[in-house]
Amino acid sequence: MTCVSPTTLDVTPSALRGQLARWPTGVAIVTALGPDGPVGKTVNSFHATSLEPALVGWCIDHRSSQLDEWLAADGYVVHVAAADQTDLITRFATSASDRFAGLDWTPGLDGMPILPVDVPLRLECRVAHRFAVGDHTYLIGEVHAMTAAADVVPMTLQR
Ligand SMILES: Cc1cc2nc3c(=O)[nH]c(=O)nc-3n(C[C@H](O)[C@H](O)[C@H](O)COP(=O)(O)O)c2cc1C
Repeated sequence: MTCVSPTTLDVTPSALRGQLARWPTGVAIVTALGPDGPVGKTVNSFHATSLEPALVGWCIDHRSSQLDEWLAADGYVVHVAAADQTDLITRFATSASDRFAGLDWTPGLDGMPILPVDVPLRLECRVAHRFAVGDHTYLIGEVHAMTAAADVVPMTLQR
């Protein structure tokens, strides 16, 4: 029998971040149309919120260099990442780069950017609620369009 010995840790921001990685999640690219063009970001805070009405959400770190653009956006598109889309995840997590360079995106609901990639699930949402909590702001969106590909396997982050 394996002997398990849990460790008690101080609740610091870096320890909490590290340990919350023990909670397996999916990963998504969210895109939106900001005042100066498309914005996009890799997130794993995406979550289901309500079925009736159809609501989902994610939260944005207040340290984001594009916080103002995201808070001004009327909606967003969630692209649930496929298991083999590591390059895409890295591209949209990298600061100070043109995340859309060479990506021939198309306009979806309200002109929002749809990425030219096959994903397991894509949700086109209009922002229904925004509220700041601690160092993040929740962006709750009402789902207006849903596109699914049952044969595309989603990515899972697990540690
Ligand atoms: C796996 C993963 C998950 C992430 N999840 C979030 C998230 O839920 N919310 C967020 O604001 N940033 C998240 N980030 C960080 C952003 O992708 C991005 O790197 C960060 O916001 C810095 O970019 P910016 O300053 O240009 O906005 C995540 C990054 C990675 C790699």
